[in-house]
Amino acid sequence: MAPGARGGVAAATVIPYIRLMKRPILIHPDPRLKKVCAPVADISDDLRQLADDMLETMYDAPGIGLAAPQVGVLDRLIVLDCVREEGEPPRPLVMFNPEVIASSDEMNTYDEGCLSIPDQYAEVTRPKVVDVTWIDRDGKLHRETFDGLWATCVQHEIDHLNGKLFIDYLGPMKRQMITRKMQKLKRDRARG
Ligand code: NI
Repeated sequence: MAPGARGGVAAATVIPYIRLMKRPILIHPDPRLKKVCAPVADISDDLRQLADDMLETMYDAPGIGLAAPQVGVLDRLIVLDCVREEGEPPRPLVMFNPEVIASSDEMNTYDEGCLSIPDQYAEVTRPKVVDVTWIDRDGKLHRETFDGLWATCVQHEIDHLNGKLFIDYLGPMKRQMITRKMQKLKRDRARG
């Protein structure tokens, strides 16, 4: 997920990892962004490296969430860090096989963006509070309740694992308009 249109990510969110590699982020439309991703069976060193690279890519963008299909890997893996306050310590989360197991009836509307749909924002309404389970990079199972921006972001990223983008929540006119802008962006980038 991209940081909101109204303000950026705190500058202090970059973590001093070593040997990290930024990966190119796929831009919509791309068939790989429409696929249902496969559950991860074993957390190998390659997958841990991928997760670290995704965090590096996300912070660099800058973004607050990134899903593996956005870097062309069709595994159920997302990373996120929604700490926005200057001076707050970063909280990088790596989630393998994340799953929403409960959602509040109360809804929340947020102006969403996506690193695969640069500079486009639209209001999306989702459950305000969600319980999520996932497996961390050490294979440990977690369950946590997320609220507010964290809840929005984790739902947005899990959608990516099911081939769903935030623009799929919009009406067809708005979605087509954004898709055309992205096609033009890709043409312009390909031309250099
Ligand atoms: Ni996204």
